[in-house]
Amino acid sequence: MKIISAKDYNDMSKKAADLMAAQVIVKPNCVLGLATGSTPIGLYKELIRRYEEGELDFSEVSTVNLDEYCGLTKESDQSYAYFMEHNLFCGINIDRANTNIPNGANPDAAGECARYDEVLRKTPADIQLLGIGNNGHIGFNEPADGFAVGTHQVMLTESTINANARFFAKKEDVPRSAYTMGVAGIMSAKKILLVASGEAKAPIMKEVAVGPVCPQVPASVLRLHPDVTIVADEAALSVLRESNPELISK
Ligand code: F6R
Repeated sequence: MKIISAKDYNDMSKKAADLMAAQVIVKPNCVLGLATGSTPIGLYKELIRRYEEGELDFSEVSTVNLDEYCGLTKESDQSYAYFMEHNLFCGINIDRANTNIPNGANPDAAGECARYDEVLRKTPADIQLLGIGNNGHIGFNEPADGFAVGTHQVMLTESTINANARFFAKKEDVPRSAYTMGVAGIMSAKKILLVASGEAKAPIMKEVAVGPVCPQVPASVLRLHPDVTIVADEAALSVLRESNPELISK
């Protein structure tokens, strides 16, 4: 696990964009694993800027997203499909037919999860982008007594509902469940890139880097992956830097 420190959110976004852009340049028909949330927005803006300047071509790229709220259609402005369309896809020349997101509007959870696992089997990510929850969740893999392997439907924890309420008119509007890639789907990516920003993430970043690998801290499982890069700003690395400065590269 390589941990790269960035000065601030903008610097984090640029450094993380460098890695995603390199993937697209070396393999134009690569598969990008994508995430939503506030952290990747700057990185997506940076990819759009590089596309507009002619540095990147997404025409042969495919994507697989981590997760989607249950009960929302892709037209709903709170859905992750809508987020991806408006924060990335609308700004680059990607073929929408090559983009994949769990279908939150499918009420058949078992059928939808099996369908998405098949998508992941056929379209494994070359690089999977992840954010991290304050409680260590990745995708919607929440702290639990065991790791969930395949794509599954998950009931959101109170902590995640509270954290995501900022994107909704009121807390009651936050969906109570989501479809998410499981640990196997995430770990099957050839490379993983985790981005983190802000002081609120600092305690969990230390847990991920040096705490036990356990399902109570879902992101700790990344320590078992052979090619993980974390790009985090100084605020997110502040607790880890106090205890283990030797783990952080410039
Ligand atoms: C989103 C996702 C979540 C977020 C996490 C952090 O697709 O999978 O795990 O990455 O909740 O969210 P932000 O970036 O808003 O702090």
